[in-house]
Amino acid sequence: MEKTLPIHTPPSPRSTRGGAVRFAKFVYLAAFLGTAAYILSEAYGFYYAVHKTAPPHVAAALARCRSLSLPAGPAPNFHHRKESDRFVPGTKPHLLKNARIWTGADNGTEVIHADVLLDKGLIKGIGHVSRSSLQAYKDDLVVIDVKGAWVTPGIVDLHSHIGDSSSPALEGASGDENSIQGPIQPWLRSLDGLNTHDESYALSISGGVTTALVLPGSANAIGGQGFTIKLRKTSERTPSSMLLEPPFQINSSFLETAERPRWRQMKHACGENPSRVYDFTRMDTVWAFREAYNKARQIKESQDAYCADALAGNHAVLGNTPFPEDLQWEALVDVLRGRVKVQVHCYETVDLDDIVRLTNEFQFPIAAFHHAHEAYLVPDTLKKAYDHPPAVAMFATHARYKREAYRGSEFAPRILAQNGLSVVMKSDHPVLDSRHLLYEAQQAYVYGLPENLAIAAVTSTSAEIMGMGHRVGYIKEGWDADLVIWDSHPLALGATPKQVFIDGIPQLENPYVIGKPSSFQQKPRVPNFDKEAADAIKYEGLPPLEPKKADSDVVLFTNVKNVFRREGGEVREASIGQDEHGVVVVENGSITCSGKYAACITPSLLADAQVIDTRGGSVAPGLATFGAPLGLEEIAGESSTKDGNVYDPLLQTVPSVVGGNGALIRAADGLQFGGRDSVTKAITAPEHSGFFAGLSTSFYTGALNKLEEGAVIQNVNAVHVTVRHFGGAPSISTQIAALRRLLTESVEGEAGKWFKDVSEGKVTLAVEADSADVIATLIVLKKEVEAKFGSTVKMTITGALEAHILAQELAEANVGIIQVPTRPFPTTWERLRILPGNPLTEQSSLAVLLSHNVTVGIGIEESWSARNTRFDIGWAALEAGGLISKEQAIALGSTNVETLLGGEVEAEGLHDMVVTEGGDLLDLESKVIAIISPRRSLVHLL
Ligand SMILES: *[C@@H]1O[C@H](CO)[C@@H](O)[C@H](O)[C@H]1NC(C)=O
Ligand SMILES: *[C@@H]1O[C@H](CO)[C@@H](O)[C@H](O)[C@H]1NC(C)=O
Ligand SMILES: *[C@@H]1O[C@H](CO)[C@@H](O)[C@H](O)[C@H]1NC(C)=O
Ligand SMILES: *[C@@H]1O[C@H](CO)[C@@H](O)[C@H](O)[C@H]1NC(C)=O
Repeated sequence: MEKTLPIHTPPSPRSTRGGAVRFAKFVYLAAFLGTAAYILSEAYGFYYAVHKTAPPHVAAALARCRSLSLPAGPAPNFHHRKESDRFVPGTKPHLLKNARIWTGADNGTEVIHADVLLDKGLIKGIGHVSRSSLQAYKDDLVVIDVKGAWVTPGIVDLHSHIGDSSSPALEGASGDENSIQGPIQPWLRSLDGLNTHDESYALSISGGVTTALVLPGSANAIGGQGFTIKLRKTSERTPSSMLLEPPFQINSSFLETAERPRWRQMKHACGENPSRVYDFTRMDTVWAFREAYNKARQIKESQDAYCADALAGNHAVLGNTPFPEDLQWEALVDVLRGRVKVQVHCYETVDLDDIVRLTNEFQFPIAAFHHAHEAYLVPDTLKKAYDHPPAVAMFATHARYKREAYRGSEFAPRILAQNGLSVVMKSDHPVLDSRHLLYEAQQAYVYGLPENLAIAAVTSTSAEIMGMGHRVGYIKEGWDADLVIWDSHPLALGATPKQVFIDGIPQLENPYVIGKPSSFQQKPRVPNFDKEAADAIKYEGLPPLEPKKADSDVVLFTNVKNVFRREGGEVREASIGQDEHGVVVVENGSITCSGKYAACITPSLLADAQVIDTRGGSVAPGLATFGAPLGLEEIAGESSTKDGNVYDPLLQTVPSVVGGNGALIRAADGLQFGGRDSVTKAITAPEHSGFFAGLSTSFYTGALNKLEEGAVIQNVNAVHVTVRHFGGAPSISTQIAALRRLLTESVEGEAGKWFKDVSEGKVTLAVEADSADVIATLIVLKKEVEAKFGSTVKMTITGALEAHILAQELAEANVGIIQVPTRPFPTTWERLRILPGNPLTEQSSLAVLLSHNVTVGIGIEESWSARNTRFDIGWAALEAGGLISKEQAIALGSTNVETLLGGEVEAEGLHDMVVTEGGDLLDLESKVIAIISPRRSLVHLL
């Protein structure tokens, strides 16, 4: 579906100069355009002779010509402002006392203990604000003692689709970020699609986000113009009223002001996305760019030539020609004038290299490469970009989802910073929920980005790269009053706003905050990943995965702070003594002793053992993940790396050779090993696009292949179906009818056999559903089946984002849930009624369900996030504020998941354990260093 480019004929460039040429032109005009032109030209000469001043169209053109040389940015006197242009009259002044302020100054290294005064939408003072200067405010001033809390600038998201790709996704109001009318569309504006009813605004503000650059999507090589907004509600309720320093072009087609123009934003994309949409090769995409830029260059050159004459007073030369202009291309011409922040979605080396060449061919600077999963491999190429090296705007660990992202590394931020490039962490909201953008900075910090740069990556650096650093991204006198009061150090896991100010207006009406342990007020210590980072470069993002077997049959882990063990279906912390750290002895993959040094160690043991100091680490059950197709796919965007989808009898005819409607597919038959996304164990159901899934299986993600001893833990775990809106047919009620028939009538084939086992309570039925209404219907159906068979059906709801509404009913019906994902977001209508947790609600959905004694596990939606499961559960435990113990938290990501999906959890001695160094499994501070595997009789060192 290749489209032709809508290229317009440019006005012809003018490069003629001087009298001789003017004469030639006169002849040319007279000869070829006839007497009309002759008369006009003469008339012009007459007009000029009489008035000694330019005719009106020339006066207008002169104004345009003068404005061309104005650089973009704030007016020189911007910082003389006394009041913000976004100030809302009636907003009360606020004084925050006793704050620990990360100001953004000195490269993000300045932290001061001070008071902050907010008024007129601005930060009016930092430091000790004198009593006399406060007296002027009389009773109006709201004083908040923040008691030493961390305060940072509001979070600035450099890459968002908030409002344009709005949530919940509805056919009438989302997907407004991508036009598929052509690969080159610099004339489109994200502002024109900004939905003011996106649920995300309030959610993202509750995570501290105050400003976002809303970009068009990446379906086009040139996708259009981005706009910067502040997220708060405005009394006007309009998209326009949300804009931060909009370019003057929102009101007038062409710039006609003597003021400095404001920064504009332009989205570009290369690589897979435009290629997929337009059936392009990379060669086609780059030509599309060059053709467009050539067009813009022609217009620019004709303008420059015109203006050279106009500004030199050679008005006669201009004749009646108006200033050369083309509305469709004016924004791209502005790019060539260096007055646009070009934001380029670009991943792979080949694409980065292409765009760097493009910038040099057409001589325009770019602000940032976005996603840029291979930028860390080619920092010197980035430095060759025209004018200045672009920043790199990244995800922390969201990688490998397509070829372009396959070599992504968690060490990229640190490597790029070490190469002197500016690092920004971005959300691509709703790809990642921007409410948790700070978490991206936390992860970048854990993997080696320095503290100052990690906080700057979501505040001052992102503000600078979008051209707004003169007013947001810092806590400085005269800057916008956008700031966040945090309940912990901003880089501590789970940092949550206690209050968020935008334009001096507090955004959280009744924030719920819980006390954090005092250790959370310090920056977390982070593990040393020097070797891993060096390997990322050495192996171009694909370091060898094969772990090393321990040198000896006997491995002695010393200095162990916590040991968590499996006991039946639960996790228990074993005590190793009050003040000293303990040891764990492992012989041939089995833990043979854990406790105090003296109780476990004999001289002969020491003689044989490989001793590993865990420096206050832990031993804990390996985590189990569910929800993503781990073991059935390697690269989500590449079908040749995947098992593929099962046939669904509700949607199509199932070939009789597999058993027709009675077929039931086993995930175990499609398992592939050696993947880069891993935890310890995965439970995976067959991939499916509709109602029917099949039989899940569980396996060790680190095993080499299916035939390795102990690789597959359980061939069949549970029977899986999905009950969801699939867009029209089959309806929810049709899906329930199918499920009822499968459970209550005798059905042919494998399906009949397994569903009968479900009805008789022998096998677990896992139903993926989010809507509380669907869940209620499933509870009714469960009772119906139990009445018919006199059984107790084992039912688990997965997804379950609205399950908290039915916590009591689920507990009574003995139905457990696996919440996917851990931190809920209203992606779709059937997920609208989430319980968002602190600071918006007192409790999280997990805490509500647990307090009703529902068995709860957590899961993931995409394979790349499996690795973050330990942080997910650590965060969930923190958020529950003491309602969830560490033992329960580990169970959420291990034993509970297994129990809920038909796992045989009792055999304690047979499950893999993980060893961490420098902290326990749930800590940002710890590093996983070993796997203890009794089934495989070994210890793997990572
Ligand atoms: C900013 O901080 C980083 C990391 O702390 C350092 O490497 C870099 O040199 C600093 N830049 C300047 C301009 O001080
Ligand atoms: C656009 O026009 C409106 C109405 O005249 C004005 O309030 C606003 O400031 C203008 N905005 C820009 C960016 O020129
Ligand atoms: C480990 O297993 C091997 C092979 O079965 C055996 O020879 C060895 O003695 C065992 N070591 C220990 C410490 O049990
Ligand atoms: C949950 O279980 C605990 C321990 O068995 C019990 O004390 C508590 O009352 C139960 N809560 C509810 C809401 O049933």
